[in-house]
Amino acid sequence: MKKSFFVVAFACLAITVVLTGCRHENTACDDAQMRVFVDKLMAQMTLEEKLGQLNLPVTGNIVTGAARESNVAEDIRQGRVGGLFNLKGVKPIREVQRIAVEESRLGIPLLFGMDVIHGYETVFPIPLALACSWDMDAVEQSAQIAAREATADGICWTFSPMVDVCHDGRWGRISEGSGEDPYLGSRIAEAMVHGYQGASLADSATMMACVKHFALYGLVEAGREYNNVYPDDFHAFNEYMRPYKAAIDAGAGSVMAAFNTVHGIPATGNRWLLTDLLRGQWGFRGFVVSDYTGLEELQENGVCSSLEQSAIQCLDAGLDMDMVSNGLVSLADAVRGGRCSMQQVDAACRRMLEAKYKLGLFDDPYRYCDTTLRKSVILSDTHRAVARRIAGESMVLLKNDNRLLPLSKRGTIALIGPLADTRPNMSGRWAVAAVPERYKTVREGLQDALRGTGARLLYAKGSNLMYDAQAEAIATMFGREMRDPRSAEAMRAEALSIARQADIIIAAMGEASEMSGECASRVNIEMPDAQHDLLLELAKLGKPIVLVHFAGRPTVLNWETDHLPAILESWFCGSESADAIADVLFGDVNPSGKLVVQLPRHVGQYPFSYRQYRTSRPNTGGGFGKFSTCYADVSSHPLYPFGYGLSYTQFAYTNFYLTDSIMPLDGKVEAHVTVTNTGDRTGAEIVQLYIGDRVAKGVRPYKELRGFERLTLQPGESREVVFTLDADLMGYYEPYDLTWTLEPGEVEVMIGCNSRDTQMQLLKIK
Ligand code: NOJ
Repeated sequence: MKKSFFVVAFACLAITVVLTGCRHENTACDDAQMRVFVDKLMAQMTLEEKLGQLNLPVTGNIVTGAARESNVAEDIRQGRVGGLFNLKGVKPIREVQRIAVEESRLGIPLLFGMDVIHGYETVFPIPLALACSWDMDAVEQSAQIAAREATADGICWTFSPMVDVCHDGRWGRISEGSGEDPYLGSRIAEAMVHGYQGASLADSATMMACVKHFALYGLVEAGREYNNVYPDDFHAFNEYMRPYKAAIDAGAGSVMAAFNTVHGIPATGNRWLLTDLLRGQWGFRGFVVSDYTGLEELQENGVCSSLEQSAIQCLDAGLDMDMVSNGLVSLADAVRGGRCSMQQVDAACRRMLEAKYKLGLFDDPYRYCDTTLRKSVILSDTHRAVARRIAGESMVLLKNDNRLLPLSKRGTIALIGPLADTRPNMSGRWAVAAVPERYKTVREGLQDALRGTGARLLYAKGSNLMYDAQAEAIATMFGREMRDPRSAEAMRAEALSIARQADIIIAAMGEASEMSGECASRVNIEMPDAQHDLLLELAKLGKPIVLVHFAGRPTVLNWETDHLPAILESWFCGSESADAIADVLFGDVNPSGKLVVQLPRHVGQYPFSYRQYRTSRPNTGGGFGKFSTCYADVSSHPLYPFGYGLSYTQFAYTNFYLTDSIMPLDGKVEAHVTVTNTGDRTGAEIVQLYIGDRVAKGVRPYKELRGFERLTLQPGESREVVFTLDADLMGYYEPYDLTWTLEPGEVEVMIGCNSRDTQMQLLKIK
């Protein structure tokens, strides 16, 4: 018999639930029981207690907006708090939950949320990197492990996945999403939700997902953080909305409203968005939380002139929980004065209680507070091994002239660069639960890999991140300072002297982890000056250089591509990234990651995506062509295309055919291709399917991803890959009425190893 910790007043109700053997799966029976339970509970609640359930005040020491003072404990006792976030550890969480359960009138348990974005203490690659694995099992497994660790530490709700499609490398938060493609982004959104929530939230090793930032945040104008967005519905629905919908369809229990406006109205207070679209059209049944102070920011937007007015608008729009603003919790007078509807308060309160019910908190408020789990679960060897494997899959080999990589474990290696020996940077931005002191630096990873081989590893920092100390302070805030007091000349001289002794140079350079993420927009996305100058000097030595490039965004790597023989885009791959970098550099792992954002030649190309819509004045070659869509001073093509990435082996694509050249609108056709590993190492290839709809009412992109498969092949092994094409797969939301359509005409079906290098077969749609 399940144990009910719920307070005396509700003991009978809880017992009823227990006796009926209710498991909190999403069945009709369970829904009915949940309704009865919540009805009875709500019948006991005062207006103030109902409003309290909608309140998510500031708690922990992690803030992403203005820090606030709050007397949380007293508010909890008074029933004015529905949940808390970013509080870490079973002990403090248990204590706070005890206050809610034992010292508030009704003893309603709290929800504990956290930004578990790419792992917990075992940190996985930043989402942008993880997406480059194109490995949906890995994505799901990373979320599952994150849930397992977080729930072992008191957390039952994560503010993830972030599914904002983004075409702009200037935006720092591109690091938190899955890149530029809506199809891939949707598959990742589903995998993340499945990973976090598992088959049932009744399993205490799963947690509730929160899809964010709804909606269109990835479109911030000019890539500037918190800026406005201006998409039209046609493009919004065909691109940006799709991963949110995929996450909802996958069962995400909650949604976070974005900071930006949609149709000129702030998302947090946007009834069309949160009610008509999300609940009405998409059938979402969970709850919506605002982003940090998002509710009160309606006043900054100039659409409301008081906190009360903001709260009324947001509640009316369909917002259920207010993060930090204390707006919804203060609505009692407005309700009593008839300025705000009691029905809406009830609806929001019900959704919050339902979420707690689904998570089993009414059965056992401490079900995520098992003090014995930490030791065996969190940062376990098994989890670390998985994270290391996934980190290896997420890095992208951009260049490898004359098969410089993999390196042999002999001779003298000079490891140089400001990212070579820095622990706090390894996990990447927005790893709230990270314990950097338990992670290795690149230097330590390489040392361990070379131990016992006789190879010598020399190290020099070589430069600071950038010359300007103040700019570096901004780039390394939140405790990741790494400034070296020595002069640039002294540091460079040291680096050159060790480089001269070496057979090969590994340069660990690029962005520090805080240079991407929230409020880290940048217009200069090239190698920071001090590091560029150092590379220039190192290159003059004429020794082979491997650039291990750290970044949380797509960057401009023109000079590096022109002057260095090997470049590994290592992003920020989490707690195990040092070992994973060594695995890839020395060939224990064959790189297989492929870019989910194309790399530009110039920041001025943004916004920029391979999903280029047909224009009336096309430009085929990318170069200058008078009166065609182009730039006069830079190619309009990327430096590295979407879907691109090298391996230590090679793959050949042969025998590409369609089972029919004509497809009825309601029919199906298969696309077949044979992929062969023609090299001498086992490797994984990501086979990509693109379509280009030549004739449609609405203008379509030349190429858009509509399928992919990741396969591992032994040397000499071949495998046939089959994609099934139909209207569901190839359709689009047509202009104005936005219904999913495929029209008669011609569709180019393209298959290849990246978005540029494809083979094409024409399919007629009748
Ligand atoms: C602000 C961020 O936009 C959001 O992604 C995050 O979940 C919240 N802060 C809570 O930390």
